[in-house]
Amino acid sequence: MNDAPILILDSGVGGLTVLREARVLMPDRRFVYVADDAGFPYGNWEEDALRDRLVALFGDLIVAHEPLACVIACNTASTLALNALRQSYPRMKFVGTVPAIKPAAERTRSGLVSVLATPGTVRRQYTQDLIDQWASRVSVKLVGSVALASLAERYMRGGFVDEQAVLAEIAPCFIEENGRRTDIVVLACTHYPFLVNRMRKMAPWPVDWLDPAEAIARQADRVVGDAGTRSMHGDFDPAVFTSGAPDYATQRIVRGFGLRTG
Ligand code: DGL
Repeated sequence: MNDAPILILDSGVGGLTVLREARVLMPDRRFVYVADDAGFPYGNWEEDALRDRLVALFGDLIVAHEPLACVIACNTASTLALNALRQSYPRMKFVGTVPAIKPAAERTRSGLVSVLATPGTVRRQYTQDLIDQWASRVSVKLVGSVALASLAERYMRGGFVDEQAVLAEIAPCFIEENGRRTDIVVLACTHYPFLVNRMRKMAPWPVDWLDPAEAIARQADRVVGDAGTRSMHGDFDPAVFTSGAPDYATQRIVRGFGLRTG
């Protein structure tokens, strides 16, 4: 019997927004969730160092868990290392998470779209290529946020959100130009959907906040196809924290997502 898991990786709790959707679509699959919290936040890393870290980390994880597929539930990592990972591990299937620029360009009515992401993701050539390829007729504003991923981590652990800090981070997304206004903000970091209600509350006007989690989960389901065994089970799936020491609040969060640590 091969009940190999689907591996989902992020730098912290952000990838849980993808796991949440994956569980709905694939209730009879096993998962292993990996939080590279020893490397958090990915958004501030120098590119070569982070790429090397990810290639080495996935090497260990693939040997340890023999997954059916790996979902990189992190824009900052995917836009940097997806190609290197596919080259390094050609037999493994990788599903990446990259800014939802194409659907945003298709849906916008005002022609003004903002992409809210980590400083790493907004700097990437990969992100610029997505804009050139899919959004050449749309005005795309890239907004790099230093603080939002950490605000999301803090919210998930303690329930507290500094709403003024959220406003300061999202404010540059809102553009008014010749009577037109930004109408879509792409959530291009998997941590951000946890804060979307606060973003809605603090936003200067209503916009569509694009969260790609469901699309990523669908892609994972397609990629895995009929491979492996599917069976309903009542067990918790493992969560791995690279720091080796998730605190009590973190252990409680992951239990809520059907995961156990240690
Ligand atoms: N969740 C990650 C992403 O989707 C980034 C958070 C971090 O900076 O580590 O980009």
